[in-house]
Amino acid sequence: MNKIVLVTGASRGIGLEVAKLFSKEGYKVIGTSRGDFNLGDLIGDSSAMSVQLDLMSKESINDLFEVLKSKDILPSVLINNAGITKDQLFLRMKDKDWDEVIETNLNGLFRVTKAFIKPMVKNKFGRVINISSVAGLMGNSGQVNYSSSKSAMVGFSRSLAKELGSRNITSNVVAPGFIETDMTTFLNDDDKIEVSKNIPMKRFGTVEDVAKCIVFLASDNANYITGQIISVDGGLFMY
Ligand SMILES: NC(=O)c1ccc[n+]([C@@H]2O[C@H](COP(=O)([O-])OP(=O)(O)OC[C@H]3O[C@@H](n4cnc5c(N)ncnc54)[C@H](OP(=O)(O)O)[C@@H]3O)[C@@H](O)[C@H]2O)c1
Repeated sequence: MNKIVLVTGASRGIGLEVAKLFSKEGYKVIGTSRGDFNLGDLIGDSSAMSVQLDLMSKESINDLFEVLKSKDILPSVLINNAGITKDQLFLRMKDKDWDEVIETNLNGLFRVTKAFIKPMVKNKFGRVINISSVAGLMGNSGQVNYSSSKSAMVGFSRSLAKELGSRNITSNVVAPGFIETDMTTFLNDDDKIEVSKNIPMKRFGTVEDVAKCIVFLASDNANYITGQIISVDGGLFMY
């Protein structure tokens, strides 16, 4: 096993914190964004690698695979974190809003995992951690597209767990609740107070809350955990 992790969507929010925490744990971190960014500067680790990747483009995923292969730094830990929302009530939801979210969150997950899983199979070690959402477990008004993509991640992760458990590859889901990032900035302070009333811990989560769980699932402490959903949501959804 190598200590190399690939984090999609590492330019900000949860992905950036995940990259920072893996770096502290001694991993070589490869982080992606659609644009130009300098992960090393953002997390204070000059060995971190910043790469461009667009989940909507199979070509960009395959290009990244070839680059990492040529440098002999294919990851043994894959964090499928990048994702988007295009919220709208179902009756008003445009085909484009549906297509873009499914294409990014679900088809992107398929493409990235498909590209990077084979070396893990060969090495008989791998950790795949997919970032879903509480919305994929309990549904959310205005998020039929997003919830569908995030629920599908559960079936994806569990089927993969069944197929690859014998190869020492674990596949788990982390389902964050409401976390303070760009994705939740559309909520104003009054909305946040209202939402928090339904959260047993009475607050939004932090990126650290989520990142710690993700790093745990990649660690030796989680060697026998696969096919699971771990909610990091302050108790918002209990099942
Ligand atoms: N925040 C929450 O409350 C919350 C709750 C539940 C689940 N989640 C999930 O947690 C994950 C991270 O969320 P976040 O709040 O940290 O989001 P965020 O702050 O909006 O960051 C999203 C990340 O995804 C990347 N990204 C977006 N579209 C992409 C594409 N087509 N190809 C490649 N990268 C793309 C962005 O990179 P660039 O824009 O730099 O390309 C960015 O790094 C997402 O999957 C989200 O659904 C978040």
